[in-house]
Amino acid sequence: MSAESAGPVIVVHGGAGKIVPDLVTLRQTGIREAVLAGWKLLSGGGSAVEAVEQAVRLLEDDPAFNAGRGACLNRDGDVELDASIMDGRDLTAGAIGAVRRIANPVTLARAVMEAGPHILLVGEGAERFAAEVGIKECAPDALITERQHARWTALREAKTEEGLGVGGTVGAVARDSAGHVAAATSTGGLPFKAPGRVGDSALIGCGTYADDGLGAVSCTGDGEAIIRLVLGKTALEFLKTGEEPMAAARRAVELVTARIGAGVGIILVDPRGRIGVAKNTPQMAFGWVRDEDSAPEVFG
Ligand code: GLY
Repeated sequence: MSAESAGPVIVVHGGAGKIVPDLVTLRQTGIREAVLAGWKLLSGGGSAVEAVEQAVRLLEDDPAFNAGRGACLNRDGDVELDASIMDGRDLTAGAIGAVRRIANPVTLARAVMEAGPHILLVGEGAERFAAEVGIKECAPDALITERQHARWTALREAKTEEGLGVGGTVGAVARDSAGHVAAATSTGGLPFKAPGRVGDSALIGCGTYADDGLGAVSCTGDGEAIIRLVLGKTALEFLKTGEEPMAAARRAVELVTARIGAGVGIILVDPRGRIGVAKNTPQMAFGWVRDEDSAPEVFG
């Protein structure tokens, strides 16, 4: 699993947590499609940034995941979305938090990155910026699925979360044929979260980080725990000690288990194209492609 790859590499996740049985196959299919879309760009000479954006966009459009359409609802019954993206070439990054009218938050995050000088825009200001750069608003209701509405109703009535499923944040990391790395993450956050709550997926260094000298990482799971341990950057720093990417990812997850006891998952790629994946949750959908000939590997 930690084999070096001279060519491009892409790894995609669809959230750490417990996946309800009827979503397992849907999420595996979504991951397969996302990883192949990113791979198509990479194998045609596209950049790591393009590949991670495209992979995450597909998962935002897929209602089986907690991002874009299909995101979970906050206490008020609204969708509020977070996303971020980072380019390892020059450490430019963009992020958005708590937006309600954007179907593809990762593309808005990329626009923030490209426009500069700010890194993170939230709420109404982020939506105003979207209009300025020509990203169309969608009706907030267009992002709400029946599944998530039913889940919100159950939570409001204080029924158990058991059986409803958690997780579903999406993310991608890639290294392109020029050797540059990038990472992106997108989420609806936590079910029944407080309105205005922003999680790790909008925070550079926490849910997302990329540096050509270190690698690229996307995290999933308990956002508050990920923030408290600055988990994305922390996982990449473990690579500096000479640790294999799989071991570095595992060490980062073990750190969360030991210090906070929360459920998380991590995908990462190092500058040599080696992959790291770890989780302490029952499940995490993820997949990768790393060689010209290889079929995508998808794990539930
Ligand atoms: N990791 C996603 C969130 O907590 O918002």
